[in-house]
Amino acid sequence: MCGIVGYIGDKDCADVLVDSLEKLEYRGYDSAGIAVIEKGIIKVEKCKGRLANLKDKMVLEGKPCGGCGIGHTRWATHGEPSDINSHPHGNKRVTIVHNGIIENYRQIKEFLISEGYSFVSETDTETVAKLMDYYYTGDPIETITKVVAEVKGSYALGILFRDFPDRIYAVRKDSPLIVGVGENENFLASDVPAIMKYTRDYILLEQNEIAVVKREGVKVYNTHRELLNKEVYTADWDVDAAEKGGFEHFMLKEIHEQPTAVSTTIMPRISDNMPDFTVEGFDAKKLAAYKHIFIVACGTAMHAGMVGKYVIEKLARMPVVVDIASEFRYRDPLIAENDLMIVISQSGETADTKAALELAKSRGADTLAIVNVKGSSIAREADMVVYTHAGPEISVASTKAYMVQVAIMYLIAFEVAYGRGQITKEECERLTREMAHMPEVIEEAMCLKEQCQYAASKLLNADSLLYIGRGLDYALSMEGSLKLKEISYIHSESYAAGELKHGTISLITENMPVIAVVTQKGLEEKTISNIKEVKARGAMVVLIAAKNIELEDGVADIVIRLPEGDELLTPMVAAVPLQLLAYYTSVLKGNDVDKPRNLAKSVTVE
Ligand code: G6P
Repeated sequence: MCGIVGYIGDKDCADVLVDSLEKLEYRGYDSAGIAVIEKGIIKVEKCKGRLANLKDKMVLEGKPCGGCGIGHTRWATHGEPSDINSHPHGNKRVTIVHNGIIENYRQIKEFLISEGYSFVSETDTETVAKLMDYYYTGDPIETITKVVAEVKGSYALGILFRDFPDRIYAVRKDSPLIVGVGENENFLASDVPAIMKYTRDYILLEQNEIAVVKREGVKVYNTHRELLNKEVYTADWDVDAAEKGGFEHFMLKEIHEQPTAVSTTIMPRISDNMPDFTVEGFDAKKLAAYKHIFIVACGTAMHAGMVGKYVIEKLARMPVVVDIASEFRYRDPLIAENDLMIVISQSGETADTKAALELAKSRGADTLAIVNVKGSSIAREADMVVYTHAGPEISVASTKAYMVQVAIMYLIAFEVAYGRGQITKEECERLTREMAHMPEVIEEAMCLKEQCQYAASKLLNADSLLYIGRGLDYALSMEGSLKLKEISYIHSESYAAGELKHGTISLITENMPVIAVVTQKGLEEKTISNIKEVKARGAMVVLIAAKNIELEDGVADIVIRLPEGDELLTPMVAAVPLQLLAYYTSVLKGNDVDKPRNLAKSVTVE
């Protein structure tokens, strides 16, 4: 949801800003822009579309020269993607970039118009820029304090004041912002990968803290103007992790990184063949004592939660409610003390998930966050945190982050089941050993690439697709369907196979292929009957099946066999061909795989 950057130092500022913005394009790519202080004047370059357009524009028209500036890549909320709505916004005296949503911008705009201000864009951001100008007293901190007291909503702001050409000001509330700390140069960014090429050291800005970023150092104040002593964190991600490393797309690279990501995530949480979350502050006994478990998240992370529900209920015999965060937060949920709320979020910044977490806390529930980004808002607010170690995920379509979330859900399920006496220690050890073996099985699944590429070539002309499965396979097919639709732009739905007859089967034609997932013994005959039903009505069927499932010849048009692994854990393996199927369909359609239209990776607005 928009990425912002800032730079002050001896390098060519425009180059650094563009370079950093490239790493943030996953946050939105409707437009891009920079503002640089050139000989005491704030110069702005911006345009609609990808950052590449801005680069081309600056090659043709020249780029602003200077050592201090801010930049922005946009995911449009207020106002269509256009040159005029692109950030930065402001006037000759104050110019800003913004990530977030200003909820009371209409009132502010009306007020400013009555004060003689005029507006060129439809954005909420321009009102903040002009309000900043309205309150400007010659003292930036005082000005920013007055503005943040008045605006409602979420914001991360990078601000240039013409009168202070040797510094960038920054402030945030409910949208992430870090200050990168270098040697004689400093940075501003929405996320760590943007600065990793230049420095690994960074400061996390907290709610309404104001940063003054100068070449020689960074100072952070609260709104009472007190200087704060901020901790400097060091990113432990590999610099190359944010590069494509020879793969055509980040998505394919990230699919390939899954075995390592799972291994790095689970191994620190396994000791003596048992799950071990003592470092994270919980154990089997603690988990077993909760009355109910709620799992709340958005998008792919919610689908990882669905797998969690099936596994916890199956093994631990404990009811689990999975909810979409945007629903949970507004439906007055029945969550209370003695309940556990698990939130799952790759970014740790998703606005709805964060609000759901806050609601659960306010109702007295314990909160446990499964998060990939260290120090993110959700990680900081939850009572307990399990960090997944997927490394930076750049492709908007999530793959490795999902895989590690699922792996953690399994380990938690083993732990709850053992704590509740539903499985013996021996069974828990066996399952945990199987999990430790999963990185190898997932690696084997990479060899399904060619089959998936072939299957994808048969899906290209479909109007719509159906994913079916039962139990865990249904939970998994939800993610398969989402992956395909977000990057191929083919409509698809996932359906519990048994539910087809209750309406959806009427949609089946030869133009509606069906992707069926069958990994769970005991349910296979039922799903195979459903496959026959759709085939009889003309559907082309791609079947992803576990190795031990017996299949008659001709049961499906394309059969993709999974490498052998424990049955309960096989959905993790089946995720790989589902991801590859989506990936190749998108590639064959010539789509922008890593940056699908209209989407952003980190949704920091409601
Ligand atoms: C967006 C992304 C999805 C992601 C979801 C939740 O929709 O495009 O890939 O699953 O947000 O994000 P989170 O960071 O909370 O996991």
